[in-house]
Amino acid sequence: MAPPLTVAIPQVSEQEAQMDKLKLYDIMLGSAKPMAVRAAVLLNIPDIIAEASGSLTVEEIAAHISESTKEESPPPIEYLFRLLRFLASQEVFIEIPHQDDFRQTRYGLTGVSRLLVKETRKGGLSVQNYVPWLLAFNNHSSLQGWLHLHESVLEGSSAFSKAFGMSYWDYVANNPEANKTLNEAMSCDTRAVMSSVVKIYEEGFKKINSLVDVGGGLGSALSIIVGNYKHIRGINYDLPYVIASALPIAGVQHVSGNMFEHIPSADAIFIKSVLHDWSDDDCVRVLRRCYEAIPENGKVIIVDALIAEGKKDEDNKENLLRRVGLAFDMEMMLLSTGGKERTEMEFKQILSKAGFKSYSIFKLPSFQNIIEVSKF
Ligand SMILES: C[S@@+](CC[C@H](N)C(=O)[O-])C[C@H]1O[C@@H](n2cnc3c(N)ncnc32)[C@H](O)[C@@H]1O
Repeated sequence: MAPPLTVAIPQVSEQEAQMDKLKLYDIMLGSAKPMAVRAAVLLNIPDIIAEASGSLTVEEIAAHISESTKEESPPPIEYLFRLLRFLASQEVFIEIPHQDDFRQTRYGLTGVSRLLVKETRKGGLSVQNYVPWLLAFNNHSSLQGWLHLHESVLEGSSAFSKAFGMSYWDYVANNPEANKTLNEAMSCDTRAVMSSVVKIYEEGFKKINSLVDVGGGLGSALSIIVGNYKHIRGINYDLPYVIASALPIAGVQHVSGNMFEHIPSADAIFIKSVLHDWSDDDCVRVLRRCYEAIPENGKVIIVDALIAEGKKDEDNKENLLRRVGLAFDMEMMLLSTGGKERTEMEFKQILSKAGFKSYSIFKLPSFQNIIEVSKF
C-alpha cells in the first residue's frame, strides 16, 4: 500500500487567523444574501428603481413600495434602509450615502439588479429577468430540503426526498404551485441560454433538417431554434403529462414518450438540462437511445453545465464559473438522487460508454456549454 500523502496544516499569522474568522462568518451568514435579494424582489424594489431611470432615496423607495403593495403607510424607513445597505454591500445596488440623514441615501441599479427587473418595465432596462430562478432556488420547500443535506451525504439520496418522503419530480407532478415555479425557472433559463445557443451553434443548425428535443418540456427551446432556422422540423419529446399541457408551436410536433425506452429518429438530438438530472448509468441508457435515433453522421447536441477547472487563489472568471457550477451541483444533491453536474472528463466517460467516439465543446457565455457529440 502506498504511504499516506502528508499535507502540512498551514501555520497562520494572527492577521490571517482574523481573516479566516471573518471568512467563516461570511459563510455562516450566507443565507442572508439570497433572502435579502428575495425580500427586495417581493417588495418590487428593482422595478421601482428601474422606473425612476436613475437613483431614488430610501424615503422615495418606501413611498413607491406602499403604492405598489397597496399598504396604507410606507414601511418603517430604518428597516428598508438596512436591507438596501446590506444589498449595496453585496453589489446588488449602488449606494450614494447622505452624510446627515440615512433617509436621503440614494440607491441605483447595478448590473446584478438589472437582471431582477421585469422585462416589461419602462426603458427596457432588463435584458432578461432572473426572478423565476431566484424564487425557484429560495422557497419554503427548497429551504426545508437543505436542512437534510447531511442525510443526503450519508445515504446517497436527494435531501429533498429526505425532507418530503418523495422525489422532487413526484412532488412537482403532484403540486401545481411547485410545477409552475419549476416551469417558469426553466423557461427563464431557456430564454437566457438559447439566445447564445442559436448564434454559437449556427453552422451546426444550418446542416440539420430534423431535430428532436429530448425532455424538451413545453417546447420553448425548440420554438427558438425553429424560429431562427425555419428549415428545421422540430419534435418536442417529453413525458405524457408534460406534453398534455404543451401549446401548439409552428414547425414543432409534440410527441410523448419515455426517453429511457425510445427516442424518435431525426438528423440530430438536442438535450438541454436533462442529463444533469440523472446518474451516470441512467445517462448512458438515455445516450444509447440517442445513438439509435440518429444516422451515422448525426449529432447529439447537449446543453448542460460543465464544472470549470478554476485556478487556485485567483478570483477570475474561471473561478467564478467553477463556484457557480459546484453550487449547481449542490442543487442537484438537494433535488435529484443520482443527478449531478459533470466535469468534461465525466461527460467523456458516459459518452464513450454509450458508444460515441468524439465530441466538441462550444463555450457559451454561461456556466452551461454546448457539447456536440458524434458517432465517429
Ligand atoms: C430540467 S427539465 C428540462 C426541460 C428543458 N429541456 C429545458 O431546458 O427547459 C427536465 C425535463 O426532462 C423531462 N423528463 C424527465 N424524465 C423523462 C423521461 N423519462 N422521458 C422524457 N422526458 C423526461 C421532464 O419532464 C422535464 O421536462
